[in-house]
Amino acid sequence: MSGAGPGRAPVRVRFLPEDLLVEAPWGSGLQDIADASGADLTFGCRSCRIRVLAGLERCSAMGPEERDFLQGLGAPGDHRLACQVRVEGDIELEYLGVGT
Ligand code: FES
Repeated sequence: MSGAGPGRAPVRVRFLPEDLLVEAPWGSGLQDIADASGADLTFGCRSCRIRVLAGLERCSAMGPEERDFLQGLGAPGDHRLACQVRVEGDIELEYLGVGT
């Protein structure tokens, strides 16, 4: 995983609704964390939408493509595409998927 900062504390991510708490190196890609932990989160275009319940400011900044995509859906500001997020501190999220 690139971007992991040496000396930085690991991050914790809580996945809901299954209430799965996972620890990972700082800066890990959320997709890598979800895959490694077996979290119930599907990656496939348009299906990895999440709501960040806590720690939105500890997620990597949105790139223009993700912003355009979510704005096109009329998504609120706490929605992210999990495949785009690098986790830079403890966060809590709810998986929304395609249907929301
Ligand atoms: S996996 Fe395609 S948008 Fe996230």
